[in-house]
Amino acid sequence: MVILETARLTLRPFREEDVDLLAELMANPDFMRFSLGPKTREQTAAFLENVIDWHRTGSPSLFAVVIRSDHVLVGYCGFLHQEVDGEKEIEIGYRLHPDYWNRGIATEAARKVRDHAFGDLKLPRVISLIHPDNVASRRVSEKIGMLFERQTVFKGFPTLVFALRREQGLAKRGA
Ligand SMILES: CC(C)(COP(=O)(O)OP(=O)(O)OC[C@H]1O[C@@H](n2cnc3c(N)ncnc32)[C@H](O)[C@@H]1OP(=O)(O)O)[C@@H](O)C(=O)NCCC(=O)NCCS
Repeated sequence: MVILETARLTLRPFREEDVDLLAELMANPDFMRFSLGPKTREQTAAFLENVIDWHRTGSPSLFAVVIRSDHVLVGYCGFLHQEVDGEKEIEIGYRLHPDYWNRGIATEAARKVRDHAFGDLKLPRVISLIHPDNVASRRVSEKIGMLFERQTVFKGFPTLVFALRREQGLAKRGA
């Protein structure tokens, strides 16, 4: 089981017992900003099952973001499987409880996940899919060195595609 550690965070695989906390987060419209909207408990449980299955089968997956000092689960960061313009892609995605925004937490987590993608998993490329109005997400993407590639339409919404290839990602390791 892969567990990633940063100065302030533990990034660990999700487990079935996380369903209550995750359902609470995914019912929060701020947590779910720039998505199709808040999820019901049933929808969250189905989502969690997929995430756990990806971990189980060795496929890139999301990590629970846990604050090391008090063990609070504040969101997720990690890999999502997407199809964009007919191509299968692996996205680095992140969402945090609004109480934890603007403290550099998403950047700290996403940087570690980026290094894991290229250093350990040897992925050829990762992307981030960002609504043009999502300034905070765009900043996180830029801060971890993702490069703007193009604008497209994803699930009916205008979407910026940020991307990083393995050799570019390895050059940014730790930074
Ligand atoms: C996107 C999200 C994960 C960012 O998490 P975070 O921990 O607050 O991110 P960080 O603190 O690492 O960085 C945020 C950056 O955005 C900037 N920012 C945030 N809101 C901003 C705004 N309204 N205008 C301009 N900049 C803004 C911050 O100043 C910071 O940049 P800086 O370090 O250059 O000052 C968080 O806002 C979130 O969960 N949003 C809802 C879900 C979401 O949109 N997820 C992404 C989907 S693609």
